[in-house]
Amino acid sequence: MDFKKGDFKGVNILNGYQFTNQQLNHIMNIAADYERRVKAGEVIRDMEGMVVASLFFEPSTRTRLSFETAINRTGAKYISMADAKASSTAKGETLEDTIRTVDGYVDCIVMRHPEKGAAARAADIAEHPVINGGDGAGQHPTQALLDIYTMRKEKGHIGGQTITFLGDLKYGRTVHSLGYFMQQLGNKMIFASPEELKMPEEITADLINRGAQIEQTSDVKAALSQSDFVYVTRVQRERFPDEESYNRCRGSYIVDNALLKAAKPGITILHPLPRVDEIALEVDAYEGAAYFRQAHNGMYLRMALLGLVTGRA
Ligand code: NCD
Repeated sequence: MDFKKGDFKGVNILNGYQFTNQQLNHIMNIAADYERRVKAGEVIRDMEGMVVASLFFEPSTRTRLSFETAINRTGAKYISMADAKASSTAKGETLEDTIRTVDGYVDCIVMRHPEKGAAARAADIAEHPVINGGDGAGQHPTQALLDIYTMRKEKGHIGGQTITFLGDLKYGRTVHSLGYFMQQLGNKMIFASPEELKMPEEITADLINRGAQIEQTSDVKAALSQSDFVYVTRVQRERFPDEESYNRCRGSYIVDNALLKAAKPGITILHPLPRVDEIALEVDAYEGAAYFRQAHNGMYLRMALLGLVTGRA
């Protein structure tokens, strides 16, 4: 199916299971086009005259900065709330009231919030499209979209491959979204995590229900020996009920050169970042270490999403 400019106008981007494969392919193609145009030095004005709100009720480096750069690079302007403590949230304002207000100022809302389901709540209220930049331990679809954009670039295609998700699969929202894309695109998944940080049962069951091929293991070497990709996540300290349970899990897996020796040759290493200690610094020199390229791809992908949901792409 061919899409035309404006076909995605008004679409909220909330989770990892809302797009068909044709739509995913279209998003990837638009991102690739923005990448080409930026690299060619074009001054892009696709979103000229528009204003986007960037509301971050939770810390962020890459998601916020790449969205705000993407807004600048598409010719729009943005208003930003980078610290909820400096906003009326600190006075007790509800999310609903904040969204109702901001929705009247802008053409699109990008938001991150500590509560699962917050972006969907905002989308119910807002008349303009809402893009979920992470809702607690829920979903992080724009990250998962840039992950598949990166996978496609790194290997030349996507589908029929094997990916190991290594780390905190319980609280790591990026893998919650990426798991759905992997199922849809026909990639086999291996879940490797400490027992306490396993993928939530409801997500695993839902993925299997949709036809996903999933293996669960604690044998990281065996998993990596058959994987085309390993997607590493940080132990999500801020989501643990207490420091003691965090301490039990931290440092329980580390990707270093010794582990890479057991991996399938040419394996691509992905990580949404920030990294704490789960990938040793020595691994950065490995040519398949794609995590900084992945972070850079986020800007092009987010230019595409902004252009699409505002109807300008
Ligand atoms: C991730 C997030 O916020 O979920 N970071 C990001 O957006 N790149 C991963 C993380 O915080 O570990």
